[in-house]
Amino acid sequence: MKSNDIREKFLTFMESKGHTRAPSSSLIPTDPSVLFTTAGMQQFKPYYMGEKSPYGDMATSVQKCMRTSDIDEIGDATHLTFFEMLGNFAFNNAVSKRQAIEWGHEFITSEMKLKIDYITIFGGDDITARDSESEDIWKSIDASLDIRPEGRDDVFWGPTGDEGPCGPTTEIYIDGVEIWNIVFNEYYCDKEKNYKKLENFGIDTGMGLERLAVAVQGVNNVFETDLFNNELDKEDRIVADHVRSAVFLAIDGVHPSNTGQGYILRRLIRRAVFYSQKNDTLIKDNIDFVWNKFSDVYEKDFAGDYETVVEVIEKEKKNFESTLDRAVREFEKRSASDLSGKDVFELFTTYGMPFEMTRELAHGKGLEADVDGAYSEFEQHKELSKTASAGKFKGGMSDAGDPQVTKLHTAHHLLLAALQQVLGQDVKQRGSNITSERLRIDFNFDRKMTDDEKQQVNDLVNGWIAEGLPVIKKTMPKDEAEALGAEMEFGVKYPDTVDVYFIENKNGEIISKEFCGGPHITNTSELGTFRIKKEESSSAGVRRIKAVLE
Ligand code: ALA
Repeated sequence: MKSNDIREKFLTFMESKGHTRAPSSSLIPTDPSVLFTTAGMQQFKPYYMGEKSPYGDMATSVQKCMRTSDIDEIGDATHLTFFEMLGNFAFNNAVSKRQAIEWGHEFITSEMKLKIDYITIFGGDDITARDSESEDIWKSIDASLDIRPEGRDDVFWGPTGDEGPCGPTTEIYIDGVEIWNIVFNEYYCDKEKNYKKLENFGIDTGMGLERLAVAVQGVNNVFETDLFNNELDKEDRIVADHVRSAVFLAIDGVHPSNTGQGYILRRLIRRAVFYSQKNDTLIKDNIDFVWNKFSDVYEKDFAGDYETVVEVIEKEKKNFESTLDRAVREFEKRSASDLSGKDVFELFTTYGMPFEMTRELAHGKGLEADVDGAYSEFEQHKELSKTASAGKFKGGMSDAGDPQVTKLHTAHHLLLAALQQVLGQDVKQRGSNITSERLRIDFNFDRKMTDDEKQQVNDLVNGWIAEGLPVIKKTMPKDEAEALGAEMEFGVKYPDTVDVYFIENKNGEIISKEFCGGPHITNTSELGTFRIKKEESSSAGVRRIKAVLE
């Protein structure tokens, strides 16, 4: 039986039992406390709490789902990041436990003609009681069934996100694989993790289409079902899984970025690029396979978006390809021993290697990589870039080139300080512009600088870099910053509270204090070698310097 027939059989079966067909919701849920739609019940959450359902009290769906917690297991027989979940849902006591279990048993044994391996039920703990009712129901249906009580981690579902309906579950296993999870929504779990009995009993079931197809089609793993292109080796499977997810995410409007869903998409695409280096068309081939396979199933989603989706994925692919060799070389350089959070962070921000990929590569060499440390580095930088977008510099961690921009920001402060030391304290900034390649500063000065002056400026800046001076941010009222004499750019309006960046030399003398939104690196030693590339006239009485870090 083909996957298209399985979907249809399931929906028709549930319709015959009184359920209304509901379309899949987006992979991006309305609940902001969850990143992705991970289960069919999410779109129905309010109806378990009394809100009126547009589908009546019984619904059935095939839901697009995304789970990234098992991303490291992709390539084995059963795990996927994107998958489809067949489910039936009931609200307001519309369906009893017995009925839900009987339908599960009937669909699996009569419609799919499969043999149940064993059943699990909730064994009870000090929070909620053992589900003896389910146990008795299963026994009454088939006394020969192997029924196994399990704990909360395995057979208690939910809530998704911060709070919501949840309850004990009973699962159907076939050939040792969990195929169907039947949840009894008996409780409401609030944000403080208190469990209250729900006023109305609800049913929520979920069955992975791909796993069911494995059983029905008598194959060994999900990649051998008709939902995939019969990928044989592990790397091809990873690529197939990740591209499939990427297509569905892109269709639901996600773009690669450094946060949230966008980061997951970035990570999936980059991982796919990494594992498809031997075959340059593999990613495109997979996009096309997914397109052909699903455009009829999810007709609305796939209507007309082909070019956009290809572009989103191919663009990210190119981005990463341009730094991949360097990334791997840099990884090799840093992997003589365990990698620090800073290593992991820099491999991502400078070379585009997603944190978790660094960890994987490290594990491959028997090393650890501090991904948590990298995340906290990231949080710190994010704070800075948030401040930045409120201030003058529109800095921020938007792309892999940005660490260079951050460094150039700091170099910019050193340059202004050096210009003042060499040309006089009257030198003030009149404009600036920073790209990932170079910095540019405009300043008031009424003649061309001599070669000797330029050399002195270069030497001063490089001297401060060599000394490894800390860069310190202080947030203060604008008046106070002005009173301190912090540099501000002529003609720019600053908010009432500002960030001032201080750089002190080894003798404790402040060599630079500037109003600035950041972001900045934390120590000048990170900058490399500073060099003035060009000094020229900008307008009457204003000079312009372009400088680089090498
Ligand atoms: N919501 C349940 C699950 O996803 C059915 O397993």
